[in-house]
Amino acid sequence: MTAPRSRRSKSDVHWGRWMFRWRRQQEVYLPQREARFHAMLSMLEVALPPEFEAVDLASGPGAISTRILDQFPRARCTAVDYHPVLLRLGREVNGTRGDRLRWVDADLRRSEWVDRLPVSPVDAVLSTTALHWLKREELAVLLRQVRSILKPGGLFLNGDHMAYPAGEARIRELTRTARTRASAQWVANGHGESWDDWWAAIEKEPALATEVAEAHRRYPNQHGREPEVPLATHIRLLRAAGFSEVDTIWQQYDNRVLLAIAGPPRRSRAGRRAQPPR
Ligand SMILES: C[S@@+](CC[C@H](N)C(=O)[O-])C[C@H]1O[C@@H](n2cnc3c(N)ncnc32)[C@H](O)[C@@H]1O
Repeated sequence: MTAPRSRRSKSDVHWGRWMFRWRRQQEVYLPQREARFHAMLSMLEVALPPEFEAVDLASGPGAISTRILDQFPRARCTAVDYHPVLLRLGREVNGTRGDRLRWVDADLRRSEWVDRLPVSPVDAVLSTTALHWLKREELAVLLRQVRSILKPGGLFLNGDHMAYPAGEARIRELTRTARTRASAQWVANGHGESWDDWWAAIEKEPALATEVAEAHRRYPNQHGREPEVPLATHIRLLRAAGFSEVDTIWQQYDNRVLLAIAGPPRRSRAGRRAQPPR
């Protein structure tokens, strides 16, 4: 595999090269990453008309957004993230794709992100390798917000690791060991670098000094310290948020894609329709 030609900016940063390294680094943790994207986008293909509106939640530099725009020429997507470095990388490499791609800099732990979306309601919300950064209570609120921005029947696809139940200790241990070994093998084979190494490298990029400082302010704690939210909790929270159907459509160990279908709008106690989503 060859690296894409870099788009050079005035600051002479090899943005395309950084993006290439980002992809390879993410593949260290999920070698089947492209297969997971494929499974997610295949749901959009069969469920939605050719022209649709999507949100890429915790987008990083826009892996989902760009795949959607490549595969569906009449679709539009909004990428939402709070990491200044990853947002800059995404914007530098992808731009706005002729206005089909919008970038929103917002913290998903604060409700304002919903108000900052350029379009709502939308047909689909997708997320990968991201929502495990949130605490269970934050996830519960976020999933309600996701439901509120979806049209009835709209799709939410979340690809992330979701813990096996605590009682399945041996399964947890075996799958974690297999995954860790596979990651080490990919690094040893030179396929990609670790998360820590990628960050150590890009943080030295002089053109990103402002974004790096801001990233440290916004994310003072290393992610991944929160207790993992088990699969059963994800499903329960999705149903409580107003999704009428929820199930796994793709899986590799504890890494799954959950597909959730937005149920009908909630009715108030008086039997009237609740406020439609904005
Ligand atoms: C491992 S990256 C995955 C990025 C992208 N979805 C992908 O698959 O390449 C996790 C992303 O979640 C984002 N994220 C975590 N917590 C967030 C929050 N509270 N608000 C917005 N984005 C958040 C991070 O900034 C980061 O870009």
